[in-house]
Amino acid sequence: MENKTVKAAILGAGTVGSGVYALAGMLSDEMLQKTGGSLEIKKVLVRDTKKERDGIPGELLTDCWNDILTDNEIQIIIEVMGGIEPARTYITEAILSGKQVVSANKDLLAEYGQELLRLAEEHAVDLLFEAAVAGAIPIIRPLKQNMTAGLLTEIMGIVNGTTNYILTKMTEEGMEYAEALKMAEAFGYAEADPASDVEGYDAGRKMAILGSLAYSSEVAFSDVYMEGITRITADDVYYAKEFGYVIKLVGIARTLGERLEVKVHPMLIPKEHPLASVRDSFNAVFVHGEASGDAMFMGRGAGKMPTASAVMGDVVTVLRNLLHDNCGWNGGIAYKKLPVMPMEETKSCFFLRLLVSEKPGSLGNIASVLGSNGVSIDQVVAKHTIHGANELVIITGSVMERNFNNALKTLEGMPDIEGVCAKIRVYREQRG
Ligand code: NAP
Ligand code: HSE
Repeated sequence: MENKTVKAAILGAGTVGSGVYALAGMLSDEMLQKTGGSLEIKKVLVRDTKKERDGIPGELLTDCWNDILTDNEIQIIIEVMGGIEPARTYITEAILSGKQVVSANKDLLAEYGQELLRLAEEHAVDLLFEAAVAGAIPIIRPLKQNMTAGLLTEIMGIVNGTTNYILTKMTEEGMEYAEALKMAEAFGYAEADPASDVEGYDAGRKMAILGSLAYSSEVAFSDVYMEGITRITADDVYYAKEFGYVIKLVGIARTLGERLEVKVHPMLIPKEHPLASVRDSFNAVFVHGEASGDAMFMGRGAGKMPTASAVMGDVVTVLRNLLHDNCGWNGGIAYKKLPVMPMEETKSCFFLRLLVSEKPGSLGNIASVLGSNGVSIDQVVAKHTIHGANELVIITGSVMERNFNNALKTLEGMPDIEGVCAKIRVYREQRG
């Protein structure tokens, strides 16, 4: 086959964009062998063309999208700039003009993924986004292709590298939350606004994308329940460790009958569970299907080169598709409408840490409030005094969130309770 050079533009030259540019150079022989073609990065879109860019020649930089859109030689758009606008407009215009698109932008894909996939299908162009979920880990393509016959019922995983890095540092080194976050930012793991990571929104976006693909039913980002790690304290980490757990930010998307449960929140995971050993910026995703059984995917979830590797994997696919006239087979379009359950109707086990008064009968009063709301007690794990106060740590049985919240409201108003310090969900196997 004649060696054809395909031209591409990268939108963004930050952490991921600079990695993509570097990797495209390193892969040139590999690409030629595997696809029969070569890739040339013709332009790189940035906001500030004066700024020094890591390894990217200044003459490639432009701040004008129209220069790229109207350049008919550019056939592939690699969007790694992030945010909803102008990324949504640029990708839409690229698709309308017949350019192939690769994106790492979960913010955009969680909100407009289905709209863009439909547009790409109409115009027979590729729209690939492996890097949008779990960095270097292949999970989008397995869900769209290899596991489509798996009769999937559950996805559970650690899908945010920044928070996993922070929780690892807090657990293993006793590092303060703020310092660990600063380090995660320095490594390039965090989003431009790290609130997105620590409040659980980034993981929520990824679970919306994974849920939509796994169950062929559009999961709106606004339907995902999200709770981040900002309220996790060193004391919670201490107690979790003492009682054989680690705290992780976990995303879950599962089917429960004809409904979906999609949520992100911190969770106590028993230290023997495989997710407990997923440390640092690593991510891991478990997938269970009635036909496929269990599968687990693990790897680096964030950072310059791991993310660039996922982006470039998609670029190689697009290059091959272009050279073999095979673009436009994206998959992933939702054709069902399964409702997402309100969080109040879902079930969880809870770790509850209370400051209690020393009055006789306190424990009985607390147990009675829990019991009258249908909350069973699996373990009263401790009565500690790490700060000179009486702390009661309870692990409940599985209970509907509404009942647990009602019990908590009553407890908060009781004279026996001086404070509710923590309420964190606890892992318990639960499949629909
Ligand atoms: P970043 O370091 O903040 O880089 C963003 C780049 O995009 C910058 O070069 C910026 O230009 C450019 N940009 C932003 N808005 C622009 C606009 N309106 N016009 C032109 N250029 C614009 O971000 P990043 O960490 O590389 O992340 C990029 C994307 O990859 C995001 O969608 C992110 O969620 C996703 N992602 C990141 C990771 C990771 O580990 N970092 C992993 C997976 C996915 P200036 O430099 O001139 O400001
Ligand atoms: N900020 C994200 C994370 C980047 O920490 O996981 C990868 O999507």
